[in-house]
Amino acid sequence: MSVDPLVFRSAMARLATGVTILTTRRGDRHEVMTANAVTSVSLHPTLVLASISSESTWLQAVRCCGRFAVNVLAAHHEDLARWCADHARHEQPEAITRHDVSVSPESGLLLFNDALVTAECRAHAEHLAGDHVLVLGEVIAIDVRDACAEPLVFFDRGYGRVVS
Ligand SMILES: Cc1cc2nc3c(=O)[nH]c(=O)nc-3n(C[C@H](O)[C@H](O)[C@H](O)COP(=O)(O)O)c2cc1C
Repeated sequence: MSVDPLVFRSAMARLATGVTILTTRRGDRHEVMTANAVTSVSLHPTLVLASISSESTWLQAVRCCGRFAVNVLAAHHEDLARWCADHARHEQPEAITRHDVSVSPESGLLLFNDALVTAECRAHAEHLAGDHVLVLGEVIAIDVRDACAEPLVFFDRGYGRVVS
């Protein structure tokens, strides 16, 4: 018995998630990508996991850099999420610095000042999982920047907000 991958993808699109921008470095250049397959894993030590396509250029960068940051997006970040999932961003690496960003003095990673949360991570382990790689990071610094802001939500291949 097996499941059609397209049916699987459509079904799993019904799982609502938050949206993050993952940042890492390739030399002087900041590499960013949108990811929603991100979750917390462990408290002792503090671990997070991101499931990254094996073909992603971001994966190559994080392997060299050895660290990455998770930026949890707010509801107003929809355009940013679209941009960081668009291959066109590779032709304009400086464009991302026009957003409200800063570079962590400790890790050198790009952080979004108006994210809900930023977490700076040291690469901990990676595991091949089908056509993706599970990248585990040990969180070495975390900042809840806005405890009241609404999160950006991804559901059924579209962006939305939490309605309470
Ligand atoms: C909302 C959203 C969530 C995404 N989540 C993931 C993810 O968790 N893992 C992944 O590998 N790609 C994910 N992507 C796709 C990547 O952002 C996109 O393929 C990106 O261009 C990959 O960057 P690359 O240039 O490093 O390959 C997501 C895209 C969107 C729009």
